[in-house]
Amino acid sequence: MNDTILVLDFGSQTNQLIARRIRELGVYSKLIHPKDIEKEDLTVVKGIILSGGPHSVYQKDAPTVTKAIYSWDIPILGICYGMQLMCHQLGGTVEASHKEFGITPIEVGSSPFLKTLPKRFNVWMSHEDSVLRLPEGFRSIAHSKTTENVIIEHQNQRWFALQYHPEVVHTDYGNEILNRFIEQTEAKRTWTMPNFIQEKTIDIRNLVKDGHVICALSGGVDSSVVAALLNHILKDQFTPIFVDHGLLRKGEREQVEHTFTQQFQMNLITVDAKELFLRKLKGIRSPEKKRKIIGHTFIEVFEDAMQKVGQANFLAQGTLYTDLIESGTKTAAKIKSHHNVGGLPKNLKLTLIEPLDTLFKDEVRALGKALGLPDSIVYRKPFPGPGIAIRILGDITEDKIRMVQESDAIFKEELIKSELDSSIWQYFTVLTNAKTVGVMGDKRTYDYVLALRAVTSLDGMTADFAQIPYPVLQKISTRITNEVPGINRVCYDITSKPPGTIEWE
Ligand code: XMP
Repeated sequence: MNDTILVLDFGSQTNQLIARRIRELGVYSKLIHPKDIEKEDLTVVKGIILSGGPHSVYQKDAPTVTKAIYSWDIPILGICYGMQLMCHQLGGTVEASHKEFGITPIEVGSSPFLKTLPKRFNVWMSHEDSVLRLPEGFRSIAHSKTTENVIIEHQNQRWFALQYHPEVVHTDYGNEILNRFIEQTEAKRTWTMPNFIQEKTIDIRNLVKDGHVICALSGGVDSSVVAALLNHILKDQFTPIFVDHGLLRKGEREQVEHTFTQQFQMNLITVDAKELFLRKLKGIRSPEKKRKIIGHTFIEVFEDAMQKVGQANFLAQGTLYTDLIESGTKTAAKIKSHHNVGGLPKNLKLTLIEPLDTLFKDEVRALGKALGLPDSIVYRKPFPGPGIAIRILGDITEDKIRMVQESDAIFKEELIKSELDSSIWQYFTVLTNAKTVGVMGDKRTYDYVLALRAVTSLDGMTADFAQIPYPVLQKISTRITNEVPGINRVCYDITSKPPGTIEWE
């Protein structure tokens, strides 16, 4: 077990970032509900961080934590609300005063905790309350113009607190402060990908014994990393199943097959189900129906393929830490049923293995690299499970799939050539169901309008259209209208999300 620093989640938007920063500094860290702290194995907990949050400690129902933590001889760091809670619980006073928002200069005094930091630097504040009177044993070691207690420390215990947010990029020396706290905890810095692989090898071997594991491989980052990890650990006791539903991008099946059979020598089962999917989708125009049909057909095909493997008793899935946090807390309205193809029903009578469920996305990428996956997979752009089906408006035909695949490949080629590829979150082409009149080689044409969609985004929740220079757009448009029969007009989608979504369906 890794030495751990727990982050007690009091609800701030940036709490996940605290755990990420601690991990980047080499110590395993996770967010937990404050109520769950007593369920943790305290022998590995080397430090506790009380996070920020939107409440006031005096509010009715303000979140709190058992006062027992102050008797455990475990170093504690309070951040923003966490600082106020700590002071409130230990007998200080917190009041609605001296509020500060945004970048704020602070001045620091002398303390071993702040050694090597400059005397003045900027931090990012976001608080309405502040600590007016410190609990006994504490002293202030930094202040701002309006707030006396910006960084505080206890004189005998390893308790520290910050009124600002060290985890956000706008704060200077944020990582240094978190690093100082880690030093105080004496936690071993064992959080590296080679260690993660070693630990998972022991866990998964103990669990699987001489059993057999399968997984649905989509070629996306998460399922590819799961497959590479399980292949590394289990070799012949692992079989990935790749369903080609015919709605992938050009060359994708070949790339997946090449990587996993040639490079990794896996017993990959590829199911060519193009015709079945096309048949089931025939004449279907509604986006939601398309998603549902694809989801159900995928399960059917997957279950069929499982029979070929024979005696599987475990199913591996690429669930990430953020998936767990989000599904546990988010109550967002349903805009689209993001039926993830590969999201398999629970009644398969297989034990679920989710080896990535403690990892953030960037750690999954680091793991993929450590396992030898190529950059084309590790840095692959997000691709929806229903694939091209939701990029063809209206009914789906083989010819329309070809138009989207060919145009998408050209779009990709030109963005890579002009070095725009890596700065764009996601890009693709959409075949609108509209036809327009054009002229080609002196002849009238009546063909489809194609839309280019390219967005910048941090997490896919909001997005803006990418500002691709006109000459690049011009080249893409010329190539598509020349090289892809059936398309005589190209438009660029300049809608942000909201009000649009990234996909068109
Ligand atoms: P939207 O269109 O909702 O997309 O702005 C946000 C992100 O989700 C992807 N997306 C899907 N992924 N199944 C998936 O696995 C789906 O049905 C689906 N619909 C959208 C989209 O590509 C983008 O990355």
